[in-house]
Order: sequence, then structure tokens, then C-alpha cells
Amino acid sequence: VSSPGTLSFRCLERADFATLARWLAAPHVARWWRHPATLEFVEREYGPHVDGDPSTEAYVVELDGHSIGLIQRYRHRDHPDWEQAVAIADAAGIDYLIGEVDHTGRGIGSAAIGLFASDTLATYPEIRLVCAVTQQDNMASRKALGKAGFELFRFVERIDSGDPSDEGPSFVYVLRRPPTS
Ligand SMILES: CC(C)(COP(=O)(O)OP(=O)(O)OC[C@H]1O[C@@H](n2cnc3c(N)ncnc32)[C@H](O)[C@@H]1OP(=O)(O)O)[C@@H](O)C(=O)NCCC(=O)NCCS
Repeated sequence: VSSPGTLSFRCLERADFATLARWLAAPHVARWWRHPATLEFVEREYGPHVDGDPSTEAYVVELDGHSIGLIQRYRHRDHPDWEQAVAIADAAGIDYLIGEVDHTGRGIGSAAIGLFASDTLATYPEIRLVCAVTQQDNMASRKALGKAGFELFRFVERIDSGDPSDEGPSFVYVLRRPPTS
């Protein structure tokens, strides 16, 4: 996957929390990530992971060394309610956002998703696939997943996760582990 610049991921730190709150407030993100765009929310949601809880790994996406977004992953088995809601075992889920709107629509999201998904398969040898759930109407996300090699797996009328970001009809996309030769 080509992208305009060099992409890298680094662990989210507490020093990123104000930037993350700003990204969550950006209209193009808030439409799909329906969380309070406050420092309090970010601390409650990400503080434990920054402090060492490994059940979700959160990374800042950097383009040429500049922070432009967030990408995170979690094994479904570490989140049994989510595993049951999505009904896919032996998988890791990913979520992502490009917070700086000027950097959307330029191939960066799909490149980041592709790189991160490959790294996730390598990091968790026990998983069969990487899974992403996106709202039916989120065309940028659906297109970016397709460009990153994901395939449409299932339509879901609603996901009972309790998270407002999951309300409404969604599509589950998966990237399968390539067969070993
Ligand atoms: C989803 C997101 C990460 C994708 O990143 P990106 O850098 O914008 O994605 P890309 O540029 O690689 O690909 C997006 C594609 O969707 C297209 N697209 C964007 N908006 C679209 C729309 N409303 N309808 C149809 N296609 C659309 C773009 O043109 C592009 O396709 P192209 O390369 O063929 O032109 C980014 O848009 C984002 O952060 N959105 C807000 C947060 C979000 O929705 N996160 C996902 C929640 S599941």
C-alpha cells in the first residue's frame, strides 16, 4: 500500500490525551466515534492502558513524525462481551481514526490500517483474523478497509455493546491470516 509519507505507530502516552480529546471533538470523527470529547473521558478510557493494562493496545499514528491519529487493537478473548456481540472467536479487533481532517482522503488511513493489521497478525500468533466493525454509512471507513485488504464478512442490524459508537446497522470486515506455504 502506498502512502504520501512515512507512517509509524508509537504507544499512546498521557501527554497525547489533550490531542486525542481534540481529535474526538473533530466533526468528521465525532460522527462515528460517539464518545465525550473531554480529557476526563480520555483519562477514564485510556488511562488504564497507558498505565499497563494490556487488554487494549492504543497507538498514535504518525506521519513523518507528526501525530495524526489513533489506532488500537484488542483480542476478542480479552473482551468477552464484545466477542459475543460480534460472534467471531480467535480474532483481534481494531479501531482507528485520523484526527487531523486535512490528512483524510489521501490514502493514509488505508495504509495505516493495512500495516497495523499485518503487525497485529504477527503480534498475536493465536488469532485467525483481524476484525473491524464499521457503521453501514461510514463509506470512508468501508473503502479504507477494502483498500487495506479486508473483506466484508457480515451485516449486523445492531450490536449490543452498550457503546453509542456501535448503534445502527454495521458491517463486520475481516482480514484473514494468509495461509502458510
Ligand atoms: C475512516 C478513516 C480512518 C479512513 O482514513 P482515510 O485516510 O480517510 O482513508 P483513505 O483515504 O485511505 O480511503 C478512504 C476512501 O474513501 C473515500 N471516501 C471518503 N468519503 C467517502 C464518502 N462519503 N463516500 C464514498 N467514498 C468516500 C475516499 O475517497 C477514499 O477512496 P479513494 O482512495 O478511492 O479516493 C478516516 O476517514 C477517519 O478517521 N474518519 C473518521 C473516524 C472514523 O470513521 N473511524 C472509523 C470508525 S469505524
